[in-house]
Amino acid sequence: MKYLSRLLPVVVALLIVACDQPSEEEKAMGGTIPADYYLEDYRPQFHFSPEANWMNDPNGLVYYQGEYHMFYQYYPDSTVWGPMHWGHAVSRDLVTWEHLPVALYPDDLGYIFSGSVVVDRNNTSGLGTDENPPLVAIYTYHQPDIEASGASAFQYQGLAYSVDKGRTWTKYEGNPILKDMSKKDFRDPRVVWHAPSQKWVMILAVFDHLELYGSPDLISWQYLSSFGQGEGSHEGVWECPDLFELPLEGTAASRWVMLVSISAGGERGSATQYFVGDFDGTAFVNQNRPENILWLDFGRDNYAGVTWSDVPERDGRRIFMGWMSNWDYAQVVPTHPWRSAMTVPRTLSLVSLPEGFRIRSFPVGEFDILRKQVKEINKQLIIGGNDWSSYLYGREPLLDMELVFTNVKKHGSWQIALSNLTGDTLVFGFDDVTDYVFVDRSAAGETGFSDTYTGVHRGKRKSNTDQMAVRVLLDRSSLEIFADMGEVVLTEQFFVKEPFTSMRVQFPHDEVLVQGVVYQLNRIWPQGED
Ligand code: FRU
Repeated sequence: MKYLSRLLPVVVALLIVACDQPSEEEKAMGGTIPADYYLEDYRPQFHFSPEANWMNDPNGLVYYQGEYHMFYQYYPDSTVWGPMHWGHAVSRDLVTWEHLPVALYPDDLGYIFSGSVVVDRNNTSGLGTDENPPLVAIYTYHQPDIEASGASAFQYQGLAYSVDKGRTWTKYEGNPILKDMSKKDFRDPRVVWHAPSQKWVMILAVFDHLELYGSPDLISWQYLSSFGQGEGSHEGVWECPDLFELPLEGTAASRWVMLVSISAGGERGSATQYFVGDFDGTAFVNQNRPENILWLDFGRDNYAGVTWSDVPERDGRRIFMGWMSNWDYAQVVPTHPWRSAMTVPRTLSLVSLPEGFRIRSFPVGEFDILRKQVKEINKQLIIGGNDWSSYLYGREPLLDMELVFTNVKKHGSWQIALSNLTGDTLVFGFDDVTDYVFVDRSAAGETGFSDTYTGVHRGKRKSNTDQMAVRVLLDRSSLEIFADMGEVVLTEQFFVKEPFTSMRVQFPHDEVLVQGVVYQLNRIWPQGED
């Protein structure tokens, strides 16, 4: 019923959507970009968002021949969730994006739900040639009519392939490739190549656990194992898994990481948890304590994130991107004519701490290309508070801040408050009594569109060092904080109409030293013409 209820607002929204955006074709024909292109209220300036209409999960993240592909759950006819398509964009640098036409449309088998894309290098599927291997997308078909009838088998897996660098896609004529009539929630296939056992492995989210399937050719699949019952958080239905190996920092060893998103249900709504352990090609074993719940992000707005497949070994990074929203309120946020953005792409790394294995996430290095001006914050001891407004660079603060606080273990609470002329205030910082990094968006502009949106959100600090390095990315309607090199991350949206004109830093116990740099960033979208 979850998906049926998502459909209700569609009818209303269909009546009010104004299609005043230039089409892909218009732009390809040299049509002009309007003066207000990507300049509407709340429009993210350096995060990906669709030109118009509804977007949710990133899908099929894959690198191929110099391009990072991003597909995404997309409903091109409305600003709320509906019959799902795969939207498509590509980037050569993970920072700037080119919009491409919709890649996959719903068909007789159903809506196109989340899934993954791999490069079938050895043409194991036979769908390309040895010289031109296919890109293979494996996704979930969702049948709303079967769901409405109360029967269980409304989700099964389909395949599509492309032999022209992802520009056009052909659905496999033998679809569906994997179904199980007894399963109700059976979705979001993540496919990975397991080199030691020379086979493809598909991880599926099945209500409250994951199921792993194996295949020699991406087409025929056999059940391998299950994971998840009694492990981690079960506050919501399990969705959007990912499985990959990460080197363990400072050692020659590595571990396997399983990401699992859990849909709205718990206190934080939609959120992504992870497990770290071992994978032998058949079964995944969690090596942290099963009752430990490890969140990838402590903010409210990072969901259904997965990582890029096929990033070249010489690069070696595991690059992650999430949907920067939350099912609790995603469909009612006050944006128009689009809804939702993605987080910035982040590099994941793995560390071993006394309490177990933990993931760090940090913005990809490519983001540095957006930096256009820099101001230094000289080392300062602040008594009470200080005005940092001059670091806002004037009218539209798009900021990348690198701050280092010293003495955080003694009397080290700090907070930074951003406010505008209408009195909206966004506060973030660290509280040394509880050890929490926090974002308080309760007075940051519009909050009334949902009861579950507003509030203070926190992530407990893991490190106990005296120094705390913090990276902060501030876009027009989002804040991403990476504390202790990404050990504690919070991603939060906010909706202020007027730009922030004041920034104050406050140290209630006046003993914290701070220094750092504040960069002003460029936006990533082309400037329109008058
Ligand atoms: C996660 C999710 C997936 C599903 C998709 C449908 O946000 O619910 O499980 O495939 O969205 O749009």
